[in-house]
Amino acid sequence: MFSRCRFVIKGGSRFSTKTSLTNASRSGIRLFSTSPISGPKFLGSAIGFALLSFGLGLAVSSLVIPKQDAQVQTFPLASTTPLEQLDSPRYGSEEDLEKCVDEIRRVVGDELVKNTPVEIDYHTDNGFNPSKPLPHQKPRYIVYPLSTEDVSKIMKIVNQYNIPVVPYSGGTSLEGHTYSTRPGIVLNTSKMNKILQVNVDDLDAVLQAGVGWQDLNEYLSKHEGMDNLMLGCDCGPGAHVCGMISTNASGIGATRYGSMASNVVSIKAVLADGTVIKTKLRPRKSSAGYNLTGLLVGSEGTLAIVTEVVVKLQVKPGYETVAVVQFPDVNDCTKSMASFFKKGIPLNAVELLDADMMRCVNYSDLVSKKFENLPTLFIKIGGLNKVIVDEYVKEVSAISKSNNCNTFEFARTAEEAEELFFARKNALYIMLDYGFNEISPDAKMWITDCAVPLSRLASTLEQLNDMMKEYPLHHMVLGHGDANLHYDIFYTPDQLEMCKEAVDRMAKLTIENEGTCSGEHGIGSGKRALLELELGKDTISMMRKLKLALDPKRLLNPDKVFKIDPLDASTE
Ligand SMILES: Cc1cc2nc3c(=O)[nH]c(=O)nc-3n(C[C@H](O)[C@H](O)[C@H](O)COP(=O)(O)OP(=O)(O)OC[C@H]3O[C@@H](n4cnc5c(N)ncnc54)[C@H](O)[C@@H]3O)c2cc1C
Ligand SMILES: *[C@@H]1O[C@H](CO)[C@@H](O)[C@H](O)[C@H]1NC(C)=O
Ligand SMILES: *[C@@H]1O[C@H](CO)[C@@H](O)[C@H](O)[C@H]1NC(C)=O
Ligand SMILES: *[C@@H]1O[C@H](CO)[C@@H](O)[C@H](O)[C@H]1NC(C)=O
Ligand SMILES: *[C@@H]1O[C@H](CO)[C@@H](O)[C@H](O)[C@H]1NC(C)=O
Repeated sequence: MFSRCRFVIKGGSRFSTKTSLTNASRSGIRLFSTSPISGPKFLGSAIGFALLSFGLGLAVSSLVIPKQDAQVQTFPLASTTPLEQLDSPRYGSEEDLEKCVDEIRRVVGDELVKNTPVEIDYHTDNGFNPSKPLPHQKPRYIVYPLSTEDVSKIMKIVNQYNIPVVPYSGGTSLEGHTYSTRPGIVLNTSKMNKILQVNVDDLDAVLQAGVGWQDLNEYLSKHEGMDNLMLGCDCGPGAHVCGMISTNASGIGATRYGSMASNVVSIKAVLADGTVIKTKLRPRKSSAGYNLTGLLVGSEGTLAIVTEVVVKLQVKPGYETVAVVQFPDVNDCTKSMASFFKKGIPLNAVELLDADMMRCVNYSDLVSKKFENLPTLFIKIGGLNKVIVDEYVKEVSAISKSNNCNTFEFARTAEEAEELFFARKNALYIMLDYGFNEISPDAKMWITDCAVPLSRLASTLEQLNDMMKEYPLHHMVLGHGDANLHYDIFYTPDQLEMCKEAVDRMAKLTIENEGTCSGEHGIGSGKRALLELELGKDTISMMRKLKLALDPKRLLNPDKVFKIDPLDASTE
């Protein structure tokens, strides 16, 4: 009976009582082979132990479970994995880690394995995350693979020694995605940055996973025949395609071209045990089997390591202009936005900056152009040529006027377009500059991220703004056209807890409005509790089931997206 239950029963001393036995045999909980003892020897003893315990259990509880029933009740037949049914993962010891790294050095070369304090610090925290890693949450080694084969070899070794691995690339994620919650290895895939193919006729590119989105666009713009192509997704400066796939990143272009999910054709990835898989070949369209591409998008390095990708390339508009429209009230902005979409106007971007943000823009030396301190839409309108675009400009202008706009300004030249959009493009630096000078030299900024259905945008904004009045915190609002809102909240170190409370309430409010606690930044370590609030325990337990099916030893980016350890008491 236990031959199919390879990982077997809840282990250790906690298994010895009658209750836990009954619970355990009811659910047939696994004992993970993530013990410091590795390999078949341990597995053998685990099975032995399980058989023994089970026999003991039968004796103690004098339960005679018919074979058939017991099978039905065993864990592998359950559709979800609740946290309480798990044992804590057991990773390799310090000694195992050293042995593991020695083997990795032999296989990929000494120069690709680093542990200097500078490099360790660099990979501990990128500085963007409001909650900081605990002092012991540092990686021990950084490994820089150069190829899929390297990653596969590394994962085979890591799997043998049970060492946790955090995939790391551009390092621009915002929710503690890359924290080393367990002593282990960071796999920095940034050196895997080759552009392997650009298939102009298919409008796609084959890339190693560590290619930066800006580098790809620069490469395309410098090569004849490709200079009208680009990746439709733009996000944090410095982000790489693998990181963007792992967080389902969006950005300003997402209104038109969709998020990373709609811009990826297929993925080559290495699984936790070193197996190399490819989710598809290179077709745009497919109904062939499970959508493993979709499974890996947004998985935040918890299911596999992305090593190569096929991405779609978008054709740049033949002509594009920028309009900046200011409104008396933020509701007028959101109403206009909704009308643009309802009318089917294909805007390339529409970004909302509230009056506080515009005050900040006006304050900045970076921006030569001055605007009123009013809620504002920055709109990119593009198309085949000027004639077509002018038609859209007319429509956008008419809709804006019907929603009470104060000013409607649009660029007549490419330079003007750039100047007009400059304020939006540099919003982050403008805000940081303002915070430093006007709030406090140690003011920090908490960048939130939520999204709601478009029709709920206006009322959600109103509710959030009302709520924020309860706090003495400066904030500014930046929204994307796809009803994705960022509240950028300034806080001084003594206001951290207060800010955290506000951010939490904000996420709850968006969930009440049928929205999500993360529109594009992801969950990382920071939003696990909110994700559970949004989707419920069962949905999370289903995710956990998938995670454990693909990564049974819980080696890949442990503790991210949801809890994988019942002893993990952190409340975020
Ligand atoms: C100034 C600024 C602006 C931003 N603007 C936007 C924006 O407009 N839109 C947006 O969506 N985001 C934005 N972000 C957030 C960030 O840029 C994105 O989340 C981005 O997708 C992260 O990519 P990265 O390469 O930096 O990944 P990292 O931070 O290195 O990692 C992100 C996640 O991916 C995993 N990962 C990394 N490499 C791999 C791999 N090879 N295989 C599997 N998993 C891997 C990591 O474990 C982690 O969970 C912004 C960030 C900053 C700092
Ligand atoms: C990852 O490696 C690349 C290439 O060596 C480097 O540029 C980058 O800074 C590293 N990332 C971090 C967070 O250290
Ligand atoms: C699968 O998922 C990817 C990424 O989310 C998406 O682009 C694609 O449309 C989905 N469907 C198929 C059939 O591949
Ligand atoms: C990715 O983002 C898009 C749009 O933001 C969303 O529709 C899609 O469901 C997301 N996909 C995943 C796998 O999270
Ligand atoms: C913009 O800032 C300047 C000073 O930098 C100030 O004189 C002007 O009144 C501001 N405009 C608005 C609309 O606040």
